[in-house]
Amino acid sequence: MRVATLLPLAVFAAGAYGASSSSDPFEQWQRPGDSDVRGPCPFLNTFANHGFLPRSGKYITEQDLANALFNAVHVNQSAAQFLFDFAIRTNPEPNATWFSLDMLTRHNVLEHDASLSRVDNYFGHADVFNDQAFAETRRYWGDVVTAQTGAAAIVGRIRTCNATNPEFSLSDLGFEFILGETAAFISILGDSESFTVDTRRVEYLFRNERLPTALGWRRPDAPFGEASLFERMELLRTEYEKRTGRNTTTPSSPGKRTLGYKGRVSRGGVRVL
Ligand code: HEM
Ligand SMILES: *[C@@H]1O[C@H](CO)[C@@H](O)[C@H](O)[C@H]1NC(C)=O
Ligand SMILES: *[C@@H]1O[C@H](CO)[C@@H](O)[C@H](O)[C@H]1NC(C)=O
Ligand SMILES: *[C@@H]1O[C@H](CO)[C@@H](O)[C@H](O)[C@H]1NC(C)=O
Ligand SMILES: *[C@@H]1O[C@H](CO)[C@@H](O)[C@H](O)[C@H]1NC(C)=O
Repeated sequence: MRVATLLPLAVFAAGAYGASSSSDPFEQWQRPGDSDVRGPCPFLNTFANHGFLPRSGKYITEQDLANALFNAVHVNQSAAQFLFDFAIRTNPEPNATWFSLDMLTRHNVLEHDASLSRVDNYFGHADVFNDQAFAETRRYWGDVVTAQTGAAAIVGRIRTCNATNPEFSLSDLGFEFILGETAAFISILGDSESFTVDTRRVEYLFRNERLPTALGWRRPDAPFGEASLFERMELLRTEYEKRTGRNTTTPSSPGKRTLGYKGRVSRGGVRVL
């Protein structure tokens, strides 16, 4: 084959990903600048730090989010769409088409109490990594985060925050987000089939807001979509219920027990969850 026929492909690859490591976003981590914004989601912050999302953290559109989630961690476009519909609820503008990472911090829109690595809003900044909160989480996780150790951390953080924060609250949606967050990081940083992840990778990302390629992590080969996310949330729900004796299934539970999420979350006006 003539070399010339390969050239356009090489140029395309360079545009999409970077043919040399110097333009590979996995290698292009930078800490945020003074005017850049970040928020409570360690993963979205990470994607911005690599340039998968705008480094400013601002004016993120549905297309920006879909590209970032796909290119960084192989999350399906429909899953990105589903998450974007939640994210724009944090933009106070009624018909917003974008959000900025700091908007996600608005308490009790999506941001919730009992985070794994943040203090409750009552105690301070709910969007920055907090060592003490994370130390508790880390004890429950041990060396490997699984459905069992992941749920133990969720139960532990909810108990601690509920016992110490006089304004503790957790909505049904907040609880579903809690399940979804742990389900997502186990699947994306670890093995979504065995539903396990080496705790070191998770800790590295949470602390540095950087993808753990230095620890051997690579973008998953298989795409990850919302159906898989919901299935894995159910594994965590079962473990949570075992440990607390509670039934946590509500109309906003997306898993196998309810059907609420078939359509897209409605835009504007009353949003049906
Ligand atoms: C690959 C995709 C994503 C992964 C793996 C992920 C993972 C996580 C994790 C593990 C947390 C928990 C942090 C903690 O408890 O300390 C979190 C928090 C959060 N994420 Fe994401 N996330 C992803 C994408 C998104 C998207 C697209 C949104 C937009 C709706 C989002 C919104 C949030 C919010 C609002 C929080 C804060 C919740 C709290 O109060 O702790 N995340 N995320
Ligand atoms: C938002 O969109 C709705 C439906 O399209 C429209 O009725 C409403 O006027 C818009 N609101 C603003 C502030 O643009
Ligand atoms: C928080 O504690 C109160 C009082 O013990 C209890 O009624 C409530 O169910 C707890 N909330 C959660 C989410 O566990
Ligand atoms: C990706 O999204 C489509 C819907 O657009 C869905 O049918 C498919 O199952 C998803 N893939 C994965 C791996 O979840
Ligand atoms: C849990 O609650 C849901 C909704 O309130 C209900 O449909 C379901 O049957 C309950 N499950 C159990 C095991 O009690």
